[in-house]
Amino acid sequence: MIAIAEPRTKLDAQRIPLTPNYPPFKKWKRSAIGEKLQDRPMCLYLHIPFCTQRCSFCYYKTVDLKERPELDPYVDALCKEIKLVADRFDLGNRPIHAIYFGGGTPSLLQEHHFEKLVGTLRENFKQFDNRQQFALEAEPLTISKSKLETLAQLGVTRLSMGIQSFVEDIIQLSGRGHNQKQAYRAIEMAQKAGQGKWTINIDLLSGLAGETDETWKKSVECAIGTGVESITVYQMEAFANTDFYKQGVREEKINLPDAEQEKGFMQYAMGELTRQNYIPWSFFTYTKNNSDRSEYIYNIWQGMEFYGLGVSAFGSMDNFLLQNTSDLDKYGEIVNAGELPLVRGYKFTCQDLMVRDVLLGMKLLRFDLNKFKSQYGFKLESLCAQPLGQLEAEGFIAIGNDEVTLTDKGILHGDFVGYTVSEYLRKLHS
Ligand SMILES: C[S@@+](CC[C@H](N)C(=O)[O-])C[C@H]1O[C@@H](n2cnc3c(N)ncnc32)[C@H](O)[C@@H]1O
Ligand code: SF4
Repeated sequence: MIAIAEPRTKLDAQRIPLTPNYPPFKKWKRSAIGEKLQDRPMCLYLHIPFCTQRCSFCYYKTVDLKERPELDPYVDALCKEIKLVADRFDLGNRPIHAIYFGGGTPSLLQEHHFEKLVGTLRENFKQFDNRQQFALEAEPLTISKSKLETLAQLGVTRLSMGIQSFVEDIIQLSGRGHNQKQAYRAIEMAQKAGQGKWTINIDLLSGLAGETDETWKKSVECAIGTGVESITVYQMEAFANTDFYKQGVREEKINLPDAEQEKGFMQYAMGELTRQNYIPWSFFTYTKNNSDRSEYIYNIWQGMEFYGLGVSAFGSMDNFLLQNTSDLDKYGEIVNAGELPLVRGYKFTCQDLMVRDVLLGMKLLRFDLNKFKSQYGFKLESLCAQPLGQLEAEGFIAIGNDEVTLTDKGILHGDFVGYTVSEYLRKLHS
């Protein structure tokens, strides 16, 4: 309890410091000027919503290229949006830390589309060529030798390929267009075309329909056998948008692995990957070296600003979340009329930012306590002493002087640690 005593004498009143600002001048530092004048780095995300297939498990809202073969007008609109955004938000000179082409399936674009998009990015973001990483998502059937060579020339440095499974029956059940042989061929082609230029990541999806311990082991072994620098293991989320799964799960026609089996799959993958010297930098992704990680994901989960370009894309700029329209027709109409296609946003409160940083930061398996303190002025270990203490006692985390580290048990439980601590923080005084 603070004792409140009304100032009674002139001397009492003089003890109250002058408060023209806060904190007082004596705390100000010269180094802060440099920090303020430096252009903050940011990331760019470009969304390509089209796919050549509709995979039965997929939870993304995608556009079927066969129904809407409108790549040219979409790329034209995207180029217009790039210019509009760079001008409106004065981003032309901002250092670009990483660029990410995500989807859908960005690799289905043709070479001239990539050339046009990269040319427009270069024209509008003056520091584009100084970026640290340029990543692109690819699907095995949509790449070719010449397309890969063009991508390498344009400066792609990370290729992330959706493989999901190396077992023929599982691939067929999942509605993917490729087979096992084509998956191998695509990986090999990408390895040859990008030697010394890019890092390859492949996505595996655990818990697909029909998956057993044997099929999962085979997929993990095959993935490691390819020698790629990075392997991402997602757990299949069955709340998929697709009728196939919704109906199949409801009517018990689809045999999906249960939670215990799922845990077993993840445990197996974690064990095998670490045995083969892959290091985890997030729950999902294991890389041979730290430099093979996705700079885009690594940084946006630590709060770096990013702008989302394209239909339904979202970004986080200047303590605001911003999202574009998800309607493909409207997106084109708005951009062609010279307007930004933004439809909704959210202004973070200070508490939101703390909650976000904990929730997303814990995905990176190491949480920097000093950074949190210097950013918000509070010690996370004091604010959240109760949940952190309990999580440590139960073996999910280790708390050091400078960081909180997830243990193997913590990694296995995915977002559990981040969710537990951030929920506690969210409910504090609210
Ligand atoms: C946008 S896709 C990647 C590129 C490309 N479209 C492809 O599938 O080859 C990104 C990844 O999301 C993952 N994904 C899709 N549906 C999922 C679901 N229901 N649960 C978890 N991960 C999913 C897949 O592993 C997929 O490779
Ligand atoms: S998994 Fe990839 S290819 Fe399949 S529907 Fe989803 S985004 Fe498209």
